[in-house]
Amino acid sequence: MALDSRFLAELKMRNGIAETIGSAVQLKRNGTRHVGLCPFHGEKTPSFTVFEDTASFYCFGCGAGGDVITFTMRYNNLDYIEAVRYLAERSGMALPEEEGRNAAYQRKKRERLYEMHKLAARFFYKNLMSPQGKAGLDYLLGRGISKESIVRYGLGYAPDSFNALKDHLREQGYTPDEMMAASLITRSERSSSTYDKFRNRVMFPIFDLRGNVVAFSGRLLGDGKPKYLNSNETEIYTKGQHVFGLNLAKNEPDGLLILCEGNLDVVSLSQAGFTGAVAPLGTAFTKEQARILAKYAKNIVVAFDNDSAGLKATDKAIRFLEEQGIPVRVLQMSGAKDPDEFIKTYGRERFELLIRSSKTPIEFQLEKLKAGMDFNDTALKVDYLRKAVETVGGIESAVERDVYIVNLAKELGIGVDAVRLEVERFRKRKASTVRRQIVKQSEQELKGTYDRVNPERSGNLRAARNEELLIAILAKHPGLWKDAEEKLPPEEFITEFNRRIYSFILEEYRSQPELAAPVFAKAFDEKEMARISFFINTATLHGDAKGQLAECIENIKSEKAKRIDPKALSPEELMQRLKNKEN
Ligand code: CTP
Ligand code: MN
Repeated sequence: MALDSRFLAELKMRNGIAETIGSAVQLKRNGTRHVGLCPFHGEKTPSFTVFEDTASFYCFGCGAGGDVITFTMRYNNLDYIEAVRYLAERSGMALPEEEGRNAAYQRKKRERLYEMHKLAARFFYKNLMSPQGKAGLDYLLGRGISKESIVRYGLGYAPDSFNALKDHLREQGYTPDEMMAASLITRSERSSSTYDKFRNRVMFPIFDLRGNVVAFSGRLLGDGKPKYLNSNETEIYTKGQHVFGLNLAKNEPDGLLILCEGNLDVVSLSQAGFTGAVAPLGTAFTKEQARILAKYAKNIVVAFDNDSAGLKATDKAIRFLEEQGIPVRVLQMSGAKDPDEFIKTYGRERFELLIRSSKTPIEFQLEKLKAGMDFNDTALKVDYLRKAVETVGGIESAVERDVYIVNLAKELGIGVDAVRLEVERFRKRKASTVRRQIVKQSEQELKGTYDRVNPERSGNLRAARNEELLIAILAKHPGLWKDAEEKLPPEEFITEFNRRIYSFILEEYRSQPELAAPVFAKAFDEKEMARISFFINTATLHGDAKGQLAECIENIKSEKAKRIDPKALSPEELMQRLKNKEN
C-alpha cells in the first residue's frame, strides 16, 4: 500500500481517537483514558478502553483493539482502503493522487466486479420481463409474487443457456477471467471451456448496504437439487457478511427487523407490508451478520422455519443477537412451514398477530422445556422445574427474574419463595463455576498454551515480555529509535512476531523522522493490531525511558545468548556444539 506514513499520521491526528470512537460509542473520560461499553461484544460493565496517549483502543473483555483505522474498519464494516477513505473524507483530507499502481489496479478490479454484477442483474431482470423469461415469470407470479416485488428486489431470470450471460458480458468488454473472478461463469473440469454458472433459475441479486449488487442466489423453477445456487466468495462478496434484504430493510422507521430463513420469505413478507424482513443467505446465521443487524435494528423478531432445524437455528440467532445487545423476540407459527406459506394461507393480519404475540427468548426456552409436558407426573414436573430454574437463573436483571419466578410458581402450583430460593441457589453455584473458569483461563493465557498471534511467546516468555516492553517504549518515545537500533538490530529479537513489529517501527521512523507514532494499521491484521494495542497500553513504563530501554535491550541479549537454536547453526557449528557438550 502506497499511502505513506506521513499521510496516515496526519489522518490519525485529524481523526482523534477519542472523538472518532466517541461519536459511535458513549465514552466516559478518566484522565487520558476513556471507557465505555464495547461495540464489538455484548457487555454490561464497560471494559472497552480508549487510550489517548497511544491513540489506540483495547477491550479487556473481548480482546478487540487497534487504532482509529482498525476501529473504523470493524465498526463500519469496511476494508482498509475504504476505512482510510472514510476517515479522510470525514476530516476533509484529500486522498493522495498517487495511491500506488497496485492499489489503483485493485480498485479498478473491484469497480469492474461491481459493474459486471450490475450488468448481470439488469440482464437477468430484462430476461425475466421478456418472452424468453416466461417460465421464470410464471413461476414467480405462480408463487404469488407481484410485479412490484420483482422490481423492489430486482429479481430476474437466468435463461436456459450456457452462454447467454457470458456473451452479453463479453460484448460489454469483460474477459472470461473477469467473469470467473466474479463467479458468474464456471469452468468445466474436462474441457476447460467456460459456461454460464446460473441457468434456468430465478435470480435474487444480493446487495451490499451501499446498493451495489455483489452476488446472486438462483432458485430452480421447480423441485430438484440444488434448490439454490449461490455465488462463490469474491473480492466483493464474503459469505456470512451480507444479509439478504437489509439494503431495503435498514431504513425501517421503527427499526423492527424480521429475521427469516428464506429469500422467498423476505420477498413475500415485505409484499405483505412487513418491510423489515431479512434473511441470512444460505449460510447459518453468523455473528458477523448479528453485528451488522445490530447497527440497524431496534428490535428483531426471529421467524425461522417451523421445523427442528429452524428451532436449532433460532437458539443460535438469539445468542448472537443478544450478544449484540438487541432485544430479540421469537415468532412461532403453526399450520405453516414458513412465513411465506403462513401469509399465503392465513393472511397478513394473522401474521401481524404472531408478531405481537412473539415470545421473549426466556419464554421461548421455557416453552421448549415444556413441550409434551405432563404436570400430573411428579417426576416430570420436578425435572421441568430444575431446568426452568436454570433458564430463569440466567437472567441478569433481578426484576425480570422475579417476573418469571412468580409465573413459574403459579404455573406449577408451588410457593414463590421456594422457587426464588432455588433460583438464587443456582445462581450462586454458577457464579463460583464461572470464577473457577476465569482463573483457569487466565492461568492458561499466562502459560501461553495457545497463542496464535505470537506462537513463540510461551516458549520465550522473558524475551517476549522484554521485546514487548521495548516496543511500548518506542511507541511512546519515538526519539529513542536510533538508540535502540544501534544497540539492538531486529535480528536480535527472538520472537518473529515482535521482530516484525520492531523492524516496522524502525523503518517507519527512519523514513519519516518527524513521525509522532508508528502507524501499525497498514501492516498488521486485526488480531495483530489488538495484541499490539494490548501490550503498548498495559506496559508499565517508568520515568526514565532511556534507562528502561537499555534494561530491555540487556535482557533480550541475555535471553538470546542463552538460546541455542539448532536450526540457526551451520552443520559445522552444530557438530562443534555437540562435541563441546560431550566434553
Ligand atoms: N439455501 C441455499 N442453498 C440450498 C437451499 C437453501 O443457499 N440448497 C438458502 C437460500 O438462501 C434459501 C434459504 O437457504 O432462501 C432457505 O432455504 P429454503 O427454506 O429451502 O428456501 P426458500 O427461499 O424458503 O424457498 P422455498 O419457499 O421455495 O422453499
Ligand atoms: Mn423456506
